[in-house]
Amino acid sequence: MARMRFTRFILMAAVLTVTVPTGMVVARPADPAATDRGIGESPTKPDSRISLKLDPQVQVMLKQTMREHLEAIEMIVSALAREDYKTASVVAHEELGFLKHHQVMQRERGVSFPKRYQDLAMAHHQAAEALADIIPTREMKPILQKLDLTLKACLDCHRAFKL
Ligand code: HEC
Repeated sequence: MARMRFTRFILMAAVLTVTVPTGMVVARPADPAATDRGIGESPTKPDSRISLKLDPQVQVMLKQTMREHLEAIEMIVSALAREDYKTASVVAHEELGFLKHHQVMQRERGVSFPKRYQDLAMAHHQAAEALADIIPTREMKPILQKLDLTLKACLDCHRAFKL
């Protein structure tokens, strides 16, 4: 018994030695390997995104919309995992599709966005509608392909624009 506890102690010590320093490396922002990934600001890569130059209140609205987008994606994935195709399809349609587009237009009334930004926004709503349409087939592979295209539409805009 005492021996087992000792073995467990050694194992724990080994796990801590391995995981703690690696975790610290990942969290350190000065490490280029840890930050030279993804989109936008990075110490080793110029940020070529176009600034939308929005008023502070509009920035707050845009960020709210974006957080809602992420919540919608999470709800869709969660519903798919539960095989709740109805909820997944309704959320894709209502929270990311054209309905959402109209709500956001109301919210951001009077704000002008560059043409390219508007096109990317439309492409993203279109991708979400295609996702909403495929979900009732319950075929996971095509569903995942459309989900991927929807997420790629998020990234297309994130790669091109910033606040
Ligand atoms: C048409 C453009 C566009 C599309 C499409 C788009 N975004 Fe964004 N999003 C932005 C911009 C611009 C920002 C601000 C980024 C910055 O300044 O670094 C942003 C920021 C965000 C943020 C950060 C919000 C905050 O509170 O700071 C999240 C989360 C996000 N987007 C999620 C998503 C998701 C998920 C999707 C797709 C379902 C999506 N976005 C689609 C333009 C877009």
